[in-house]
Amino acid sequence: MPSEPKLTVAVTGPTGEIGRAFLRALDRRRNVGRVLGMARRPFDPREQGLRKTEYRQGDVLDRGAVEELAAEADVLVHLAFIVLGGHAETRRINLEGSRHVFAAARQVSRFVYTSSVAAYGFHADNPQPLTEDVAPRGTEAFYYSAQKAELEQALEEELAGAATETYVLRPCIVAGPDALVLMRQLPQARVPGPLRKAVPPVLPDPGIPFQLVHHDDVASALVAAVRGAGEPGAYNLAGDGTITLADLARALGWHAIAVPAPLVGLAAFGAKLPLMPSLAQWVNAARVPVLMDTAKARRQLRWRPRHDTLATLRETVAAARERGVV
Ligand SMILES: NC(=O)c1ccc[n+]([C@@H]2O[C@H](COP(=O)([O-])OP(=O)(O)OC[C@H]3O[C@@H](n4cnc5c(N)ncnc54)[C@H](OP(=O)(O)O)[C@@H]3O)[C@@H](O)[C@H]2O)c1
Repeated sequence: MPSEPKLTVAVTGPTGEIGRAFLRALDRRRNVGRVLGMARRPFDPREQGLRKTEYRQGDVLDRGAVEELAAEADVLVHLAFIVLGGHAETRRINLEGSRHVFAAARQVSRFVYTSSVAAYGFHADNPQPLTEDVAPRGTEAFYYSAQKAELEQALEEELAGAATETYVLRPCIVAGPDALVLMRQLPQARVPGPLRKAVPPVLPDPGIPFQLVHHDDVASALVAAVRGAGEPGAYNLAGDGTITLADLARALGWHAIAVPAPLVGLAAFGAKLPLMPSLAQWVNAARVPVLMDTAKARRQLRWRPRHDTLATLRETVAAARERGVV
């Protein structure tokens, strides 16, 4: 039987929390021959034990660099994004940079973009759980959410009529031992080690359930999309089960104080520490549950997440403890 042709996969933003896990997963795939990564920081694939990855420094704001990256690829995967950043910086990189990548996607056979649960927006009248049939409306006051919704629309417009097969993945909060951003936002993680004891080990808990997905499970869904498993389209990604901030407190050996949802912004992470604007927006958004149904990814992509939400939380906390993050 003739063997499957080996794919060349180009990835923007391969050095981030999802990207690192994705590169490791691509490296293990027999039908992937080359992986071309591009982000701004220096990165040595060999140091990470990656045999198929070639890395170049480049910025998605540089249209020529994006076009060159895509020109060599069968499949283009767009992960480059600013998740927690200021309004102006995120607008420029996320909206302008992503539009460059969407335009370049016309040259490849398959395009994979990681949107987010935030694209749906945090609306009390959204069905629970959300399926992919619900329109991604975004929440105007939460700029990450508004940008994710705007970009899904822009992508549809850009690739209308193109031959490119397009997959849009919508993960919930990503965690795991190599994705500690969630842990780094806790007040204890944001003060120098010796001062940490001064911050009480308490989290305000509005009791709103949320989901986590392990970085390796996001990576396996990305690999399925790269292979063209199932129909092109949008896919929710979340681990089984839900947790609340009380579960997070318990996993850390801390206490949780029940706080009514409307007050969570005020009590947010307890402290008088200034919240980064983007984080404050996440905390405010967390007053409304946004739980996703993942049946479509399981059915079409044959996605089988290996970690549920609680197990992902525990692994993340253990890694954060080991690395002295909290
Ligand atoms: N983490 C989550 O909880 C989560 C959940 C749902 C969806 N997502 C989505 O998944 C995608 C990847 O997220 P992530 O968690 O891996 O983010 P991350 O850890 O912050 O990584 C972002 C990546 O983008 C690169 N990047 C940023 N600005 C760039 C630019 N101007 N040009 C080229 N590369 C740039 C970064 O590298 P340099 O800084 O070196 O350039 C890095 O490789 C994003 O679209 C995000 O919205 C994430």
